[in-house]
Amino acid sequence: MDVSQRYREAWEGFWSATSDSPGEAIWDAAPSLSAVPHSELLLPYADASLPVVDLGCGNGTQTRYLATRFARAIGVDLSHAAIAHARRADPEGVAEFAQLDLVDDDAVRALHERTGDTNVYMRAVIHQSEPEARPAVAAAVATLLGKRGRAFVAELTPASKAVLQQASEVPGGPPEKLRRVFEHGLKPAGATEEEVPELLRAAGLTVLDSGDTALPQTEYLPDGTRIDLPARWFVLAAAL
Ligand SMILES: C[S@@+](CC[C@H](N)C(=O)[O-])C[C@H]1O[C@@H](n2cnc3c(N)ncnc32)[C@H](O)[C@@H]1O
Repeated sequence: MDVSQRYREAWEGFWSATSDSPGEAIWDAAPSLSAVPHSELLLPYADASLPVVDLGCGNGTQTRYLATRFARAIGVDLSHAAIAHARRADPEGVAEFAQLDLVDDDAVRALHERTGDTNVYMRAVIHQSEPEARPAVAAAVATLLGKRGRAFVAELTPASKAVLQQASEVPGGPPEKLRRVFEHGLKPAGATEEEVPELLRAAGLTVLDSGDTALPQTEYLPDGTRIDLPARWFVLAAAL
């Protein structure tokens, strides 16, 4: 299976039009607001001597932090332009980066052969994937974990749609970073409340822990309030 050409081009277009400035992508929050607290949730369950793979790593901001907490960190992304950003932002090579479509089962299996069982970090990928591709994205998590890995997955919930709509309806239209998301045809918060846990269970994963959170964005409303998007997180392992 493969993502559609429209979807692939939407992401390639977005990342090609994004500069190297940290935070230019609306979700590109500092690790102190994302991978740092998320690692604290994952590490009690995980063997940090295994690698971690950051699925849909974008420009690699979180991957570089994960490299400080796990034996090895690999970021993979559908977009070649995203991977080029990630490599430029990591001149010392603390992490490794590779282009990979999570929906391409053969490519995911080949990655698992190279890494062995690995931990997984996935922030904000399923919620905006094409509905028909979502089961394969969840299956990629299960393939990479094998028996020994543990995953941390955080996905926007449908409540994010109302926040995004509210942010778009301000005088002068959506703030610049949000406008770019819509202009490139990206579709955030498309998954229903129950869809993500159901997809993860159907992929053969069991939920060890989960909770509600918000993913802080790098964009603000005219009154200076930061846009924080409602999300749910899961710590996962292979079901017995
Ligand atoms: C909303 S961004 C989040 C980026 C990063 N995880 C973060 O939290 O900063 C979603 C990322 O997933 C990537 N992506 C979307 N579908 C993918 C797929 N099928 N395979 C691999 N990467 C994908 C996009 O290119 C994009 O970089």
